[in-house]
Amino acid sequence: MASFRIAPSILSADFARLGEEVNAVIAAGADIIHFDVMDNHYVPNLTIGPLVCEAVRRVTKAPIDVHLMVKPVDRIIPDFAKAGANIISFHPEASEHIDRTIALIKEQGCKAGLVFNPATPLSYLDHVIDKLDLILIMSVNPGFGGQSFIPEALNKLKLARRKIDATGKDIWLEIDGGVKADNIYEIAKAGADTFVAGSAIYGKPDYKAVIDAMRGELAKVGQLAC
Ligand code: DX5
Ligand code: ZN
Repeated sequence: MASFRIAPSILSADFARLGEEVNAVIAAGADIIHFDVMDNHYVPNLTIGPLVCEAVRRVTKAPIDVHLMVKPVDRIIPDFAKAGANIISFHPEASEHIDRTIALIKEQGCKAGLVFNPATPLSYLDHVIDKLDLILIMSVNPGFGGQSFIPEALNKLKLARRKIDATGKDIWLEIDGGVKADNIYEIAKAGADTFVAGSAIYGKPDYKAVIDAMRGELAKVGQLAC
């Protein structure tokens, strides 16, 4: 049976109580903390950096999944590695030398991910897929939480799943944007195994109820596979 990971995005958390908010989603059954870094240049919003990553690292042992929406990207990667990131993902448009950026992330001891915006073709995978630990498909345009899921992302997930399976490697397939309990089943059926959800979890008072509902939907996909 496929193993599924739920990755709450702290973008929608209460930043005044960030440590508590991180621990609350892990206690509620989440697997990973998704950490959205925006620079007001590559995307039109400004969020959090390595200092905050280091602070989150001090309160949790859960993997920290850093999603870099910054350009240029290489200079800041070692800072996040030092701040305790486990996975670092970047957008191909934000790097002049994609293969070099992947190598840089790995040299820093982190897992490397490549992120695809809704209109970014998967052809960027052609010569580097074997070097990746994670492929992240954006189902919204990056920059803001709380947007609606773009259905074309399902077709892209299916394509990415085929490419991953052809490698025979354990490359995670993550989806980010507009993921909720009521669409997670379709998303998982399209091939995703790692699910970022910001507003769907942090926007509700009972985090465990949302994560349990998501797990319930994912269990149906697991049964399909048996
Ligand atoms: C968008 C971010 C997402 C965002 C998801 O640029 O990468 O991680 O926080 O938020 P929701 O789940 O609310 O769409
Ligand atoms: Zn993200």
